[in-house]
Amino acid sequence: MAKLWAGRTSGITDNLADDFNSSIRFDQRMYQQDIRGSMAHASMLGLQGIIPQEDADSIISGLEGIFNDLNSGALKIDETCEDIHMFVEQVLTERIGDAGKRLHTARSRNDQVALDLRMYLRDEVDSISEKVRALMAAITDVAEKNIDAVMPGYTHLQRAQPILFSHEFMSYAMMLSRDLARLSDCRGRINVSPIGSCALAGTTYNTDRHFEAEKLGFDSVCLNSIDGVSDRDFCIELISCLSMIMMHLSRMSEEIILWSSGEFSFIELDDAYTTGSSIMPQKKNSDMAELVRGKTGRVYGDLMSILTVMKGIPLAYNKDMQEDKESVFDACDTVKMCLNICAPMIASMKLKKENMLHAAQKGFINATDLADYLVRKGLPFRSAYKVSGQIVSVCIEKGCVLETLPLEVYQQYSELFEEDLFQAIDLKTCVMTRISEGGTGPASVEKQINYIKSLLS
Ligand code: ARG
Repeated sequence: MAKLWAGRTSGITDNLADDFNSSIRFDQRMYQQDIRGSMAHASMLGLQGIIPQEDADSIISGLEGIFNDLNSGALKIDETCEDIHMFVEQVLTERIGDAGKRLHTARSRNDQVALDLRMYLRDEVDSISEKVRALMAAITDVAEKNIDAVMPGYTHLQRAQPILFSHEFMSYAMMLSRDLARLSDCRGRINVSPIGSCALAGTTYNTDRHFEAEKLGFDSVCLNSIDGVSDRDFCIELISCLSMIMMHLSRMSEEIILWSSGEFSFIELDDAYTTGSSIMPQKKNSDMAELVRGKTGRVYGDLMSILTVMKGIPLAYNKDMQEDKESVFDACDTVKMCLNICAPMIASMKLKKENMLHAAQKGFINATDLADYLVRKGLPFRSAYKVSGQIVSVCIEKGCVLETLPLEVYQQYSELFEEDLFQAIDLKTCVMTRISEGGTGPASVEKQINYIKSLLS
């Protein structure tokens, strides 16, 4: 079929080239944005007297019909069209005749595609932010219900100090709260209207870019038409926000996978979020969490892909930029799927508090508290650290823990040790007395929970 853009050339292309050139397979998901953008454009053209008002009216009602028919399925997208913009314009002209041919006055597909993508992505940001909030709520709820559970905190994946499980878990809510802020910041830069930039240089018609921008819910219009058609920073910025979300989800998934293992056994995932093995009947695998961890690589790939596409392309629009959409769509779809699965997986998991506590009782994770005990009795921290280390070695030799080593042995290392030391190194005490701001003590965790709840309300 001859192309709408058949001008200098015959518009007759090779089938393989057509297929290669076409983006309709993946840009058809922007049909609503494309039609709404065109309606606003037609209104502006009519109001400014650039096209006759009756043509503007018939374009708008024609577009309304296409919008409804695509929504209902009465109209099918013709995948032999080059892209969604060409498809809509072609159907419009078929339906309303010559008036349809006036729609593309004072615009180009270059500003049109940038407009559609910005409209589409700002909706995606809203829906992703909602899902981030749902996950934050699930995390906060689990933390609140299990606020007192004690577990070992790790550094280098070695037991380090006793902490509240709720404290550990709320750290993920904190990460997600920053993700929300980043998304909202990024939305501000997405929500700038490029329409009216035209091919690259603006236009000779007396257009009203602000009218179109306002009608479509934009905060402002871009100030440089060349930048307007060639900027894809907003895609890159969004995928970097999404990559960061995935990095957070993958860290959380990793802990869920570890904690579900027989070696840790701190949690039990609900059967609904696990799979069995086709050969080993005893298996309960945390596939969902593993997939979230794996899909993180995919979103990073999307980021690399778009950064590389944009690297070094000259101004203004180049067809390379058609490659922006699959990356940014894939990243949005993937993050939404992962958030959708993480929230119920977390809400339904069971904590094995006994095992957490038991693990915390091994590994001398109260050795810092033992040193702090001596510091409170007047010893400088470095000396106290040394004594505490010697006592840990004695315990290892004797095969006991700090709680069961007799007071007389303690006293061989420092006469500052008294009966109250056992109270001081009790795991509950260790956690309860970590009262510093942001520490693992329950008052601090409650403050964190309230903070996140206030963000969510
Ligand atoms: N399908 C194209 C894209 O996604 C639309 C813009 C085409 N512009 C052009 N000058 N060929 O980027």
